[in-house]
Amino acid sequence: MSFRFVQITDHHLMATEATLSRGYSPAHALRCVLRHIAAHHGDVDFLVSTGDLVERGIDAEYATLRAMLGLREYSAAPGPQRATGEGLRDMPCYFLPGNHDPRAAFFRNMFPWSVEGVGEAPAMNAAFVHKGVQFVCVDWGAANKAASTPAMLEHLRRSLATGMPSIVLSHHNVTPVGVPRLDALAADDVAGFAAVLGGGTVLAILAGHTHMTYEARLAGVPVLGLRSTHFSFAQSGEEWVYALRPPQYRVVTVDGPRLSSDIVEVAL
Ligand SMILES: [Fe+2]
Repeated sequence: MSFRFVQITDHHLMATEATLSRGYSPAHALRCVLRHIAAHHGDVDFLVSTGDLVERGIDAEYATLRAMLGLREYSAAPGPQRATGEGLRDMPCYFLPGNHDPRAAFFRNMFPWSVEGVGEAPAMNAAFVHKGVQFVCVDWGAANKAASTPAMLEHLRRSLATGMPSIVLSHHNVTPVGVPRLDALAADDVAGFAAVLGGGTVLAILAGHTHMTYEARLAGVPVLGLRSTHFSFAQSGEEWVYALRPPQYRVVTVDGPRLSSDIVEVAL
């Protein structure tokens, strides 16, 4: 049980690659990150995005994402689907939705098999196993502020009851990150989530949403947040501002019961 994978997060793609977001090009940034991964970490087992794939949640934005990644096939949620964009060589990719991904649009565009004949788009409470490690995706909802659901907690409980070493994938942050406006976005009822975690063999929780890289702990489990490929945020005195920082991705190594990771920063 030894392998590596890459996490990316919060791409906020627009309807076309030429469309800017407050002067920033999310498409250019994501292309730079993908190109860097292909050149330097193209041998990892897979890539996972922890959500906010697009900005508004419209079909054209998902079409832009799929074209950029070179995705030609569909799969059951959460993947994998093989990417060939920017030099990636059939890289298996998994995708979680964020609060900018309305579930109906996300599943219709990324995982249409999962909603065929289903009246309401499901939440991304799913899991997959890779080389003996279980990846548990938890869905805190499509609002900016996370909120647990009985279904999500039950999904986590059942997944961890298998006793497999597990990695939890979450769009929303589950701990404070030291910025009041972002800290307020974690679920008020995160204690229930933490109580379920405590009983399992969870190697780490990987999160997005805050657009910032940090390390924390919840119920003794390492929590690893990751900077977005989109622009990030900062508290500047009394003001909440949009901050330009180079995007980052996380290279995660799982070696037996140990998990370690490195942050790679990409110049634009
Ligand atoms: Fe985001």
